[in-house]
Amino acid sequence: MSEPVQTLSFDTVMDRLLVLKEEYHQNYLAMYSSWYNGIIKEPALMMVPVDDHLVHRGDGIFEAFKCVEWNLYALERHLDRLERSAAGSSLKLPMSRARLQETILATVRAANVSDCLVRLFVSRGPGGFSTNPYECPASQLYIVVTTLNRPPSEKYEHGVTLKSSHIPIKEAYFANMKSCNYLPNVLMKKEAEDSGVDYTVSIDEQNFLGEGPTENVGIITKQNEFLVPCFDRILKGITITRMIELAQDLVRTGILARVGEADITPDQAYEAAEIMMFGTTFDTLAVVNYDGKKIADGRPGQFFRKFMELLEQDLRGCFQMLTPVKE
Ligand SMILES: Cc1ncc(COP(=O)(O)O)c(C=O)c1O
Repeated sequence: MSEPVQTLSFDTVMDRLLVLKEEYHQNYLAMYSSWYNGIIKEPALMMVPVDDHLVHRGDGIFEAFKCVEWNLYALERHLDRLERSAAGSSLKLPMSRARLQETILATVRAANVSDCLVRLFVSRGPGGFSTNPYECPASQLYIVVTTLNRPPSEKYEHGVTLKSSHIPIKEAYFANMKSCNYLPNVLMKKEAEDSGVDYTVSIDEQNFLGEGPTENVGIITKQNEFLVPCFDRILKGITITRMIELAQDLVRTGILARVGEADITPDQAYEAAEIMMFGTTFDTLAVVNYDGKKIADGRPGQFFRKFMELLEQDLRGCFQMLTPVKE
């Protein structure tokens, strides 16, 4: 006979939580919760109430940005995108932008590491279990700081693999905001894992490239053009947007012929001189194989190395915030 299911007292739950330790908890450095009104460092207590509509309806938005050498990269751009996602989902941010910045800095300081990944979640808030957003008296903010796990160095040296996804691409309205309805993205990531490739890329109804589960894609054509899929059906990534700006210098000096958005078919991508992925945690990675086809000579190309260098320089020169004070 199996053990009877118990009803637990408050103290028993607390005792159990305090001994609850998982290996992955070592990556969880600090969490701010507007629900607790403060910062916690104990991973087992980093929780969101189950009646928060973020949990049962995916009713919330998020952002992810990195802190490198105590500096928050492109914070203002990420907060601008958070505000756009909030507007798109009729969510009121629970505090002013100035207070939000202060809270982010305090949470990163509490994490007390020079390099980390910061995720912001703005939820509809607790207030019952229906879909009705008016059930919730107040939106909530959760900030989670974790270790920054970049891909292993061989991915930069030897490149990554890519596959066209079978998961239906999102409609423009939902693709353009970072909402917590990421089931299509989750299934794309699963698809990549299950097929043994690094990334998958969505394909729209007209057979044009979209984006990866949480990254953008771009190509260098044989005519030295840097082309990225049109942003109407995908999220406007901060990394690729910055890369487009930085690449303008290469156009001015004649190294690149052109930079711009374009409709790109998989066939065009197979024939590209280079394919690259772009995203916050890794900056850029060279795709050396797409749908089982070798891209150019199957090695990361010269533009990948140049782009990586430009993004690395930018990391050191494009901080939007004051350096957090070291403890
Ligand atoms: C769907 C999607 N596309 C692209 C990106 C890349 O954006 P960023 O460069 O801002 O990380 C992300 C980031 O998480 C994403 O979720």
